[in-house]
Amino acid sequence: MSDKPEKFIDENGLRLDGRRVDEIRPMKMEIGVLSRADGSCYLEWGKNKVLAAVYGPRELHPRRLQKADSALIRYRYNMAAFSVEDRIRPGPSRRSIEISKVSREAFEPVVLTHLYPGAVIDVFAEVLQADAGTRTAAINAACMALADAGIPMKGLVSACAVGKVDGQLVLDLNKPEDNYGDADIPMAMTSDGEITLVQMDGDVTPEEFKQAIEMCKEGCRQIMEIQKETLRNKFTKLDDVEISDD
Ligand code: CDP
Repeated sequence: MSDKPEKFIDENGLRLDGRRVDEIRPMKMEIGVLSRADGSCYLEWGKNKVLAAVYGPRELHPRRLQKADSALIRYRYNMAAFSVEDRIRPGPSRRSIEISKVSREAFEPVVLTHLYPGAVIDVFAEVLQADAGTRTAAINAACMALADAGIPMKGLVSACAVGKVDGQLVLDLNKPEDNYGDADIPMAMTSDGEITLVQMDGDVTPEEFKQAIEMCKEGCRQIMEIQKETLRNKFTKLDDVEISDD
């Protein structure tokens, strides 16, 4: 692991990777990348690389786990053994179980689960390369995989984090900021601005916390534009295909 930098923000207000304090890392995504999944997305965000796959809605077995009035959402966040500097031990860890739980809860308010009683919707988010912000990257990819699978949702969900370094709030932490910064606040938001995930590691004042929420919301809005554009690109292309009567 690299050492703690002396300064995170230079005299021009730029961060170690050249970004402004309110700028997110470059993000690109593609949907429909896995033929066996009902929906899928490959996302790159800075140096993070995440693959998300959605299966379902399909009947849940064993039947005793079924919910009579809605579908069950299962979410598995996983870091590949080779995704980090030190190898990750395969299998669930306390961290991945916690991230899977809060990420599932970030989708529960938007997925119209009542349309599929007795069913299950499985969401898999595989981190192939990790570089800070993987839980938020996974949520952004999972949302696109759900949309690609045609799962009815009230709207999209997007996620990013705000942190604090050199006494200043910064949007979308890079690795040194995540490792050595004073705070890390990942958040997810719906298209209506409803917050479906907030976690906090570190210390900020109540005033800074309010500012962090506003900064995160702005980051999520930018990500949502990329998500919408990705969907428009795929589905307008489909509109262009002529459907024959044969
Ligand atoms: O990835 P995220 O920021 O959501 O979660 P984190 O627990 O704050 O981890 C921050 C970063 O530390 C990850 O993105 C990885 O780059 C790294 N990490 C690691 O190298 N080994 C782990 N077991 C967990 C995280």
